[in-house]
Amino acid sequence: MKRIMLNQKSGMNYSDIETYVSNLKTYQNKFQIYPSSIYISKFVESGYNTGIQNIAESSKGNQTGEITASQAKSCGVNSVIIGHSERRLNQKEDAEVLINKFNEAIENNLSIIYCVGESLVDYRLKNTENFIYNELKEVFDKITIPENLDLCVAYEPIWAIGSGMTPTNYEIADVSKVIRKYLDENKLKADILYGGSVNEKNIDELLKIDEVDGFLIGGASNDYNKVIKICESAMNSTK
Ligand code: PGA
Repeated sequence: MKRIMLNQKSGMNYSDIETYVSNLKTYQNKFQIYPSSIYISKFVESGYNTGIQNIAESSKGNQTGEITASQAKSCGVNSVIIGHSERRLNQKEDAEVLINKFNEAIENNLSIIYCVGESLVDYRLKNTENFIYNELKEVFDKITIPENLDLCVAYEPIWAIGSGMTPTNYEIADVSKVIRKYLDENKLKADILYGGSVNEKNIDELLKIDEVDGFLIGGASNDYNKVIKICESAMNSTK
């Protein structure tokens, strides 16, 4: 079964969490969930594979408002998202910050989803492959990835996130091949995910892409009925 990763972002309020957690219980082994940090314990205590959407760049000193990788780990979190475009853009996270977060995650045995993806301008200029290549290189050239790290590279075109637009299956396959080539050349083992407006309606079509090992799903992940449909599709898919 292809991997289903749910990035809830800031999409849920406290009052909705109990219902969400109880309604997805029978599917909880089918996906990995990245809730808002304040709800992490709800998921961990109910036996969900729980990740965190972000970690602090450093574990040193006092850091008001931050959550360190070791704190996350101590709460039962097993994975982290690094390089999401919303953080690259809104929190101005550059390669140096991302490298520090990679090192923190690795030191604390967290698995990692590393997000890459081009803007609409780069897409229209047909600059996608160059752009992705650089986002891989600027981070992976500077870190040592342990062989046993559960690493995913998520291709998430910025223009597809939350927009209802997706690249064609051919385009996603082509970019995935570029990512795979880079990984192979650098002897890195990773699964490739696609993210950007994946939902219960387009999942069946997207599941056909051989080059993709799974999906990183934002908006649709906040509706448990949509998650159930997505899980059912992935479970029934022969890919
Ligand atoms: P989306 O978000 O599914 O709402 O487009 C995906 C993501 O940002 O990871």
